[in-house]
Amino acid sequence: MNFNEELNRRTEEIERLLEGYLPQESGFQKTVLEAMNYSVRAGGKRLRPLLIAESFRLFGGEGKAAEPFMAAMEMIHTYSLVHDDLPAMDNDEYRRGRKTTHVVYGEAMGILAGDGLLNYAFETALRAFDIDPGNQGIPEALKVLASKAGIYGMIGGQSVDVQSEGQALSREKLDFIYRLKTSALIEASMMIGAILAGAGEEQVKKIEQAASDVGLAFQIQDDILDVTSTVEVLGKPIHSDEKNHKTTYVTLEGLDKASADVERISMRALDTLAGIGRRNEFLEELIRYLVSRKK
Ligand code: IPE
Ligand code: IPE
Ligand code: MG
Ligand code: MG
Ligand code: MG
Repeated sequence: MNFNEELNRRTEEIERLLEGYLPQESGFQKTVLEAMNYSVRAGGKRLRPLLIAESFRLFGGEGKAAEPFMAAMEMIHTYSLVHDDLPAMDNDEYRRGRKTTHVVYGEAMGILAGDGLLNYAFETALRAFDIDPGNQGIPEALKVLASKAGIYGMIGGQSVDVQSEGQALSREKLDFIYRLKTSALIEASMMIGAILAGAGEEQVKKIEQAASDVGLAFQIQDDILDVTSTVEVLGKPIHSDEKNHKTTYVTLEGLDKASADVERISMRALDTLAGIGRRNEFLEELIRYLVSRKK
């Protein structure tokens, strides 16, 4: 099987798994539940759950403890997108090929659906204790999930990102924003897979470092696509960064250097991964594939 077929197969598996973890749309709070599921069901690359699964595989993980974490991670990522698109933040009307949640359900429901997804993510991840009571890594994996999503992780990065609109930024500050707003959840994904598979502290540190670079390259490519792609291919608006007067890697370094750096930083991630002394060829190919991703 070639890489693309395998990627499709594994992504479809994740779709099925996710569907099984979504809440029932019933009760007086049905609307917020519909809004939560609307955004998750819209699709997307499912990169973060994929990274949990592949990191779990890299370290020879057994059992099903990773599954609720995969669903939880996609819920947290999706909430970050629902809130990122709100009028008070990037004010975007398309996401994953559909109208954004707040456009369809109204702003209050957009906020609450995001809150609902964040909380439900933890309700979901906690199910790991019932699914695989013998897995000793679950408490540590929960700590990583909580901290990387928080103010020292994704939320922290998003905060500095919105506060910096219209300002010139140093590379140092831009890198800080990217490492938090985007790398943090990618780090958490790869670390959680490793921890649940029983990896040691040193190995988890290396996976975190590799993932940090994967995330940085991923955000730079996102900036590139914001100026070079189309709404049809991306499923979200282009020129969103310009509209919001954002300093990005592209405005700071130019398109050519940005592209070269996506490649360079991704190769550095692969080098770090090679230092772990175990191999998952699909994971390596996935990191290479992300360098030239078109969406
Ligand atoms: C978009 O993430 C937000 C960024 C961190 C750049 P993705 O590009 O992974 O979005 P989906 O999940 O595929 O929609
Ligand atoms: C957002 O970065 C990263 C998040 C944590 C949601 P962007 O604002 O560039 O993401 P897109 O381009 O809207 O997906
Ligand atoms: Mg944003
Ligand atoms: Mg945005
Ligand atoms: Mg973007």
